[in-house]
Amino acid sequence: MKTENTALPPEIVDYIDECLNKDRSESYLIPVLQKVQEHIGFLSRKSMDEVSWRMQVPAATVTGVASFYHFFTFKPRGEYRVTVCMGTACFVRGADKVLEQFKELLNIDEGETSEDGTFSIDCARCIGACALAPVVLVNDRVYGNVKVSEVAGILRDHGFEKE
Ligand code: FES
Repeated sequence: MKTENTALPPEIVDYIDECLNKDRSESYLIPVLQKVQEHIGFLSRKSMDEVSWRMQVPAATVTGVASFYHFFTFKPRGEYRVTVCMGTACFVRGADKVLEQFKELLNIDEGETSEDGTFSIDCARCIGACALAPVVLVNDRVYGNVKVSEVAGILRDHGFEKE
């Protein structure tokens, strides 16, 4: 298998090769895309084309699967990925106002990344911590019972300096 000019890190290439040795290797498409996103931060066109080529799965199928699942993103995300849960429990406890505050302070919209690449904002459906609603994640760090007045402090935890 060709290894030069790869858009994928060697560990992903190895993982795909492992998958290709298994029955129904195409069923590993989602785990492969998850690993690509973990490593690169998003699914670039080039990385998806290479997954398609290596796994012998049509490019339209790769794009279709990646588009279907909301946890895949096609744009580079920030170093700190702010995820505001907008599930029912969080929403009724003010997650929409918390989200607005993040958007206002960072001056970006949901799905966008700050110009310096430091922060991005996304929304999620229930992330399984309803008792802590409203819940915000910054990368893997969980903030519970978040109040609008705490948003600036959460950002400051990650180097945000603007008031
Ligand atoms: S609705 Fe937000 S954690 Fe469940």
